[in-house]
Amino acid sequence: DIPNLKDVLADDFRIGAAIDGRDLVESSGQLLNKHFNQITAENHMKPDAIQPTEGEFTFDAADELVEYAEANGMEVYGHTFLWHTSQVPEWWFQYPAGHPNAGEPLGSSDEDRQIMLDRLEAHIGALAEHYGDRIWAWDVVNEVISDNNAEVYRHSRWYEIFEGPEYVHEAFRIAREAFDAVGATDVKLFINDYGTENPGKRDNLYGLVEDMLAAGVPVDGVGHQTHINLNTSIDQVEDSLLKFADLGVLQAVTELDVAIGAPGEGEEFPEYEARLIEQGHYFRDLFAMYREHADLLESVTVWGLHDGRSWLRSETRPLESPLVFSDTLQSKWAYWGIVDPS
Ligand code: XIL
Repeated sequence: DIPNLKDVLADDFRIGAAIDGRDLVESSGQLLNKHFNQITAENHMKPDAIQPTEGEFTFDAADELVEYAEANGMEVYGHTFLWHTSQVPEWWFQYPAGHPNAGEPLGSSDEDRQIMLDRLEAHIGALAEHYGDRIWAWDVVNEVISDNNAEVYRHSRWYEIFEGPEYVHEAFRIAREAFDAVGATDVKLFINDYGTENPGKRDNLYGLVEDMLAAGVPVDGVGHQTHINLNTSIDQVEDSLLKFADLGVLQAVTELDVAIGAPGEGEEFPEYEARLIEQGHYFRDLFAMYREHADLLESVTVWGLHDGRSWLRSETRPLESPLVFSDTLQSKWAYWGIVDPS
């Protein structure tokens, strides 16, 4: 029998996986239970999943995951209240039913901003009431920093309506109030983003968190998505952890995967096996670094239970294999790199 990841890492941090209902059954469920002690809902707690229509909340798919976690002694990391993608329903950026401009896009007047804030309050309030402290942390905002480092903040619909990052501050204030109101005062509030290993983007995120702390905004933690590849500098991943440690915030690796750079459909990939071995070395070095800084990390979550469930796997990229278990649930070199770093 091979070692469990959660036991190997027991003294360091929790090890999580992003999942949905498919991962709870049969051999997938066994693999999940054997190795992981935390879960994140890959999609089921996103805005469009929780509130597809304004005022109509659907918790069933998310509940299934939370109940499974509780029954199996796992923690749950919440993802996410506020985002900029298609997984935020279109109604959120439109005038509400009953308004003279119902269905038209919001502008950036004070009234329009208030509509956005009221919606945040209703959305987060419903989740706080429904889950209380059964979910120990939430990504309050996701991906609010721009990839264009000169721009600092992502110019999303949120940013346009508020003409600045004030909505980020407000989201944290609203979340803290919502959880306080239901007595869930210990729930941790995270800001989550990818590319935090990129020094420019990292510094922009750092600046935002620093500003929020100075303004008394209740931000507790920074989530490093960590969608990286074999060429990503582990030193830069480390530098980012060390940098945020200066702010005294909690940190978590929230969406780890290490792409091997598989080519498009139908193309040859003679390096496939060699890349998987290289990936094993990469996971070995990455986790050695993470464990060295275990005091800085609450949890490390991989974005998928196995390669066949990775969001990077597609018909156009059928051989991308960024995770620690293979499509057939076998332990990859990446797994051995974590458990047997010799
Ligand atoms: C991805 C999911 O894995 C996909 O199933 C979905 O179609 C799109 O979203 N950053 C995030 C995650 O914060 O929510 C994304 O998850 C991956 C990138």
